[in-house]
Amino acid sequence: MENSAVNFALVGATGAVGSEVIKTLEKRNFPIRQLHCFSSSRSSGKEILFRGESLRVQPLSETAFKEIDIAIFSAGSQVSKEWIPKALKEGTKVVDNSSAFRRQANVPLIIPEINSHALQNHALAACPNCSTTIMLMAVGPLHKRFKIDRIVAATYQAASGAGLQAMKELEEETLACLENRPYTRTVLPNPYAFNLFTHNSPLHETGYVDEEIKMLEETRKILEDEAIWVNATCVRVPVLRAHSEALNITFSQPVSVEEVYQVLHQAPGLKILEDRSQNRFPMPVDASFQDAVFCGRIRKDLSFPNTIDLWIVGDQLLKGAALNAVQIAELFLESL
Ligand SMILES: NC(=O)c1ccc[n+]([C@@H]2O[C@H](COP(=O)([O-])OP(=O)(O)OC[C@H]3O[C@@H](n4cnc5c(N)ncnc54)[C@H](OP(=O)(O)O)[C@@H]3O)[C@@H](O)[C@H]2O)c1
Repeated sequence: MENSAVNFALVGATGAVGSEVIKTLEKRNFPIRQLHCFSSSRSSGKEILFRGESLRVQPLSETAFKEIDIAIFSAGSQVSKEWIPKALKEGTKVVDNSSAFRRQANVPLIIPEINSHALQNHALAACPNCSTTIMLMAVGPLHKRFKIDRIVAATYQAASGAGLQAMKELEEETLACLENRPYTRTVLPNPYAFNLFTHNSPLHETGYVDEEIKMLEETRKILEDEAIWVNATCVRVPVLRAHSEALNITFSQPVSVEEVYQVLHQAPGLKILEDRSQNRFPMPVDASFQDAVFCGRIRKDLSFPNTIDLWIVGDQLLKGAALNAVQIAELFLESL
């Protein structure tokens, strides 16, 4: 192991995002001296395989972050609110996947391809909401080149966005439905097999759900532009993995489809996937287990000036959470 290797903590190691963090750390050969894995008491004692070594999952304790250089939290807001201040006190650099600190002005929301500069001098960074991250992989470079005034977004969000138990529930409910058996849901609020429903985040008085508000607020924060508007409609669809989004993007000036292609062809972390002769555009099966976010159906909106439409799909467990968090941890590594 290199001298520059760090002690690393992963909170939520047994979850949908946590298990992808483990694979991503391995894949990117992150220089780790010791990896400490934490979960709730439900999974404590379980063994996790990391680089061929079996690691025992532990419950969090007051000494959990002693001599930990970098930690990724993927265990929900309550855990982050309680334990991140303790980790920071120990001098640990922290990446949080939850929404606990995203709205705090002094905590940067980072997508390394878009705004890595905002991490400077910070010990805590938050990963944006997964729908925002996937959208901004195309919107960020476009806004930088041609100013965007407004985005109308419709999302088609996978079960895994709600965690491991929600994925299991979709599989079990689908099977029960096919076998004509009754099924009692415990995670998601509505029938999911062969159905879809409004995103299951809290409904605001305005009629928007929290996920939709996050897409507006987080976009403004990351792009450092309070003038940009995002009007989102977020929907859960019976897909296990990878979120899709239809984006209608209005620029402050005329922009051609060719110019949009030029920018997106060069956008880091983004791939254009189109076969117009076959009416074949990105699908969740293309994006699942992939680091890249896939984009296609780039076309001029015939109904409104200075506007283009596009379709974007990304594995929200990876670029929407685990990969983004590990990329931020890599930025922290450079500053240690
Ligand atoms: N899923 C996504 O696509 C996605 C995308 C972006 C952000 N996020 C965020 O990432 C976080 C994790 O989401 P997920 O989808 O991975 O959820 P998940 O599959 O339900 O996993 C939750 C993880 O947190 C652990 N945990 C729960 N309570 C804990 C406690 N008191 N102390 C320590 N660990 C505890 C669980 O351990 P046990 O095994 O013991 O239950 C499990 O490892 C959430 O904040 C979520 O909002 C998720």
